[in-house]
Amino acid sequence: MTQKEIKICYSEYDSLSGLGEEDRILAEKAIEATANSYAPYSGFCVGAAVRLSDGKIITGSNQENIAYPSGLCAERTAMFYAHAQYPDAGIIAIAIAARQDGDLCETPASPCGACRQVMAEYQKLAGRDMKIILAGRRKIRVFRKVDDLLPFIFDSLH
Ligand code: THU
Repeated sequence: MTQKEIKICYSEYDSLSGLGEEDRILAEKAIEATANSYAPYSGFCVGAAVRLSDGKIITGSNQENIAYPSGLCAERTAMFYAHAQYPDAGIIAIAIAARQDGDLCETPASPCGACRQVMAEYQKLAGRDMKIILAGRRKIRVFRKVDDLLPFIFDSLH
């Protein structure tokens, strides 16, 4: 038997001003995108912004439905739209922000498992690391690649 360990790396900032310009802009776009959330059932308004390899920024927000499972998270709304519209561009970064009762959440919202799985696939398609920026009011977390949020990803079909 061999005991193994996985190390997860991320950086934490107190405010957006600590980020480089590109990341700060992407985080601001995610915060702006929370305004387009349709979340009458949960009241949890999520925004996501993805940066494509050609520099384009695409935003999305969570879209709920009275038949609950029919709704979709902000991250997948943004990624699916981006890849449907620009299939030749890689998704190289994603920023996520969430509001509750109008206020940006203090601690950043972390993407759900299904969104992480989708991020992992687009990262693989892009052939380079996808940066993940989780923007909260008091804390901003930056992960260099999806592997840091989702180790041992399912990718066994070839
Ligand atoms: N939600 C997202 O948009 N992204 C996530 O990663 C987690 C959750 C949405 C789904 C639902 O509309 C609301 O937040 C509450 O779960």
